[in-house]
Amino acid sequence: MTASDPTGTVADLLCALTREEKLGLVRGTSDPEGAATGYVAGVERLGVPPFRLVDGPLGVRAGGREATAFPASLALAAAFDPDLAREAGAALGREAKARGQDAVLAPGANVVRVPACGRNFEYYSEDPALAGRLAAAVIEGLQSEDVVATVKHYVANNQETDRCRVSAEVDERTLRELYLRPFRAAVEAGAGSVMAAYNRVNGTYVTEHRHLLRDVLKGEWGFDGYVVSDWFATESTVDAANAGLDLEMPGVPAAGEDDAAGGASSEFDPEAGGDFAGGIPDITRGGLFGAPLGEAIDAGEVPEDRLDDMVARILGQMERVGRLDGDRDGGAIDTPEHRALAEGIAARGTVLLENDGVLPLSDAASVAAIGPNVRDATLGGGGSSETTPFDATSPAEGIRARADGAVTVARGVPPIEERSLFDALPFGDEGGGDEAGSDGEADGWDDEAAGDPHPDLDEAVAAARGADVAVVFVRDTATEGMDRDDLRLPGEQNDLVRAVAAANDRTAVVVNSSGPVELPWRDDVAAILEAWYPGQADGRAIASILYGDRDPSGRLPITFAAEDDYPATEPARYPGVDGRARYEEGLLVGYRHFDVAAVEPVYPFGHGLSYADFAYGDGVVVDGSAVGVDVENVGDRPGREVVQAYVRPPSVDGVERPVRELAGFAAISLAPGERRRVALDLDERAFGRYDPDAGWTIDSGSYDVEIGRSIEDVRTEVTIER
Ligand code: BGC
Repeated sequence: MTASDPTGTVADLLCALTREEKLGLVRGTSDPEGAATGYVAGVERLGVPPFRLVDGPLGVRAGGREATAFPASLALAAAFDPDLAREAGAALGREAKARGQDAVLAPGANVVRVPACGRNFEYYSEDPALAGRLAAAVIEGLQSEDVVATVKHYVANNQETDRCRVSAEVDERTLRELYLRPFRAAVEAGAGSVMAAYNRVNGTYVTEHRHLLRDVLKGEWGFDGYVVSDWFATESTVDAANAGLDLEMPGVPAAGEDDAAGGASSEFDPEAGGDFAGGIPDITRGGLFGAPLGEAIDAGEVPEDRLDDMVARILGQMERVGRLDGDRDGGAIDTPEHRALAEGIAARGTVLLENDGVLPLSDAASVAAIGPNVRDATLGGGGSSETTPFDATSPAEGIRARADGAVTVARGVPPIEERSLFDALPFGDEGGGDEAGSDGEADGWDDEAAGDPHPDLDEAVAAARGADVAVVFVRDTATEGMDRDDLRLPGEQNDLVRAVAAANDRTAVVVNSSGPVELPWRDDVAAILEAWYPGQADGRAIASILYGDRDPSGRLPITFAAEDDYPATEPARYPGVDGRARYEEGLLVGYRHFDVAAVEPVYPFGHGLSYADFAYGDGVVVDGSAVGVDVENVGDRPGREVVQAYVRPPSVDGVERPVRELAGFAAISLAPGERRRVALDLDERAFGRYDPDAGWTIDSGSYDVEIGRSIEDVRTEVTIER
């Protein structure tokens, strides 16, 4: 079935539905059970059940009820493991089903352009090939469980500052080669839904962008699912409907009352949001696809068959996931498998940035576990991805449970407070988000009883001095609706690290961050682990890495650099001037920028150390679209190596291209002394460039393929002719 030519049940329903009923299917309304993030009332007369959409991507946020709090998308990305991403998607799908939900508002596939963007933790990478492969895998997993995946936020929603108004001024080639690519991969993977973002692209709101919705997404890519608006992002009736928006969400004002019914929401002023101004949508808006759409059709401003197409697309997805066949069954939540998966992803996504040999810890070592939030699991950032876990393990608990030696715990400096979009909304956090004890108690600790009522730097220093090893946990704070102020660690954490490192030269630092952070003390400490936002399994996962039960095999899916060294730092580029953010850096985002910049990044894309040691043989060309290399574990511990391939295009007169682009990656686990061949499939689009006239073009010539363990650590090279 295609949306434009429905058959069977969907076609029959289209014939039977009245205009009024059709209008009810393209607009959200309040969930009587209060669980769904978005709710489409069904048509009882014809046996069309209600359809429920629920937030992700870090877990299922159904009306504040508990669910497995999975690691942040960025942590999943750092594992460089599409199979794991597929498992994560399937688990999310089962949890959504168990909560009676039909569609999940995930994955987030925006390319990381702005290092301080408040939602980078919900995204995968600065590289579109990596983001696309992971988004596709999560979608395959989700949809294998018969729930609809919703890839978001289409497109160029790369900052939270002013997200509801800003226009991304971006040329077509950059759009195609960077920002659209993960979405195309998502559509190719069969995503049933695409969420149109709040922002504008080249002056037009995405929710009413004909070129992006109708021509590219539905036309060129053949997307036959439905386009849903981001929440309160629908800007118009006629333009949005004609551009290709299919479903208005949530369709009613946030207070749950219809349109101009008054009440709390009618007094809401998004501009009063303080730091969130421009990041908060107008929640008093709803109903543009209700009666006004009927009137527009009557007036001849929207073709009648556009409404049929909208309905067919929505019903088509309902049918695909079995919603039209009767009751949903199954699903599973908080199973031992899901708990283990959450822990496995958190561990596999942990990146060992530095290690002078202090890690892994010996079982018997005495450890000082230090950090302002060491007694809290770092679940995620603020906003619609907040997930309330059944249970969570803090770093302090995880280390205590694993250590044989003595463990002392000290906070050292005041806790880093969470920030959440929900704090700025009149209805508060209706969907979860108790950050597992930002008060320090959800992990079972009581500060008074633990003898640490007030954080005290001297006490932390004394604990560090008295232990064999000090492990300091530091974190940032990030939320939807607002970008981070800068890339510095908030509060007094840098002072804490410096003081502890001065007291104990065997100091390891674990960073929990939503994206790159500056680590000014990095030369003064013995080891650094980047563990992102690890979710409910935080303490267990990090203990398994610290003690070497698992190899830290994560790799950076984003470049770490000093804030001023990134390309989008001038106000005209970010956050924009007069409502326009000019993407003047074009394709030179992330490592594409650092490949030509005068400065070196602090940690390059793809970087990550291991407790093992790997030797590479000579690369071979398997065929025009795959390369191989023998990798041997020459260390004395088992390890997992992520092998990466970057394509260097030939130079062609008059054509500017990035120096290199990630084309493929594959991971291999090896016992000490073991040697095996790794095969890497190469993404065809890494060879191509988008020519605004000719479309995707592959220039003939020699393409060098660099194979190695990061973009800076190339071990062997082969050439492919095209
Ligand atoms: C976010 C979406 C989310 C939606 C529903 C919006 O504010 O941008 O990612 O799915 O709210 O909660």
